[in-house]
Amino acid sequence: MKPKLQILMTGIGSYLPKNKTSNIDLEKFMDTSDEWIKKRTGINFRHYVEDNELTSDMGTTAAKLAILDAGLNSNDIDLIIVATTTPDDTFPSTAAKIQKNLGSKAISFDIQAVCAGFIYAISVGVAMLRDGYGKKCLVIGADSMSKLLDWDDRSTAVLFGDGAGAVVLENSTLQNESVQNDQWGVLATKIFTNGEYYDLLGTDGGVSKNMSTGFLRMNGKEIFKHAVDKLSSSLLMCLEECNMNINDIDWLIPHQANQRIINAVSNKVKIHQNKIISTISIHGNTSAASIPLALDVAMKKGNIKNGNILALQAIGGGLSWGSLILKIGKPN
Ligand code: ACO
Repeated sequence: MKPKLQILMTGIGSYLPKNKTSNIDLEKFMDTSDEWIKKRTGINFRHYVEDNELTSDMGTTAAKLAILDAGLNSNDIDLIIVATTTPDDTFPSTAAKIQKNLGSKAISFDIQAVCAGFIYAISVGVAMLRDGYGKKCLVIGADSMSKLLDWDDRSTAVLFGDGAGAVVLENSTLQNESVQNDQWGVLATKIFTNGEYYDLLGTDGGVSKNMSTGFLRMNGKEIFKHAVDKLSSSLLMCLEECNMNINDIDWLIPHQANQRIINAVSNKVKIHQNKIISTISIHGNTSAASIPLALDVAMKKGNIKNGNILALQAIGGGLSWGSLILKIGKPN
């Protein structure tokens, strides 16, 4: 059997809007408290875009940093996949706007899997690179969730923030031949959807319904239960595919929705808390941007070393969820 092409992650970048808002700032105009938000979610701060700052602006900045980090130029990129639920326009895609901003000619399109979008986008990018659509793929998670919030609904408004993160994936045939005998890059991905839970999380508007975007609505308690169950099971499936066990994972980078979900998953899959990257406190839930934002923070701190095994996982509206396992960096 022909060996699978190995797909390495070679660059990362991220962006947060300047407006950093604390729980105490929210207390000033909402019936909430710093104590409730911290205790029930672990969130202290989130960032919000300005009125004239677009999802594509954040995505473009993160993308430029990721391309630079990979030592590439925009015109080296063959594919641009943007995971977003908050596009600039109903159409064309935000990916097309970012392609224009970068001066690129890459095949460019959006993926809509809400908070699971980044895991979906990596999975699609890996499959397309393996299928020969190109050699270098930019995967961007970018969301302006603040634009979907109902500020009178305190059970959702305090949870979300805005931001963007991007990574570069590269076909490893460009690397040293020895790579073929040593598994690096994306080792396994598992993505799932179950539309039976469509109504648990979404907006109360949409193009084919009434032309307005609507506001975010969520059955938080139900989502919480599904999140713990589905994040755990998809991670265990990835481990099985890689013939690994949980002790092989150096770092778990979960979707940043709620610290209590992260803790419950950690107990369920039996991974030590000190192997978990959590930025929920400083970012809130940034939907498709949450994993690359957290990964970038950990990389910049120097926590993640070349060759570490990472597990990434996310769940969002749909319900859509998934996990992936990645050996980060490149062989020396
Ligand atoms: N401030 C103060 N009190 C609040 C707030 C607030 N911001 N929000 C709710 N409350 C109150 C409620 O009114 C309720 O009061 P009551 O007991 O007098 O009726 C009380 O706090 C408890 O409310 P619950 O909804 O039971 O709180 P819970 O502990 O379930 O936490 C939360 C709610 C944080 C939303 C939690 O359920 C959760 O994190 N769910 C999962 C969210 C998630 O993972 N989303 C997935 C991804 S998002 C995406 O895909 C777009």
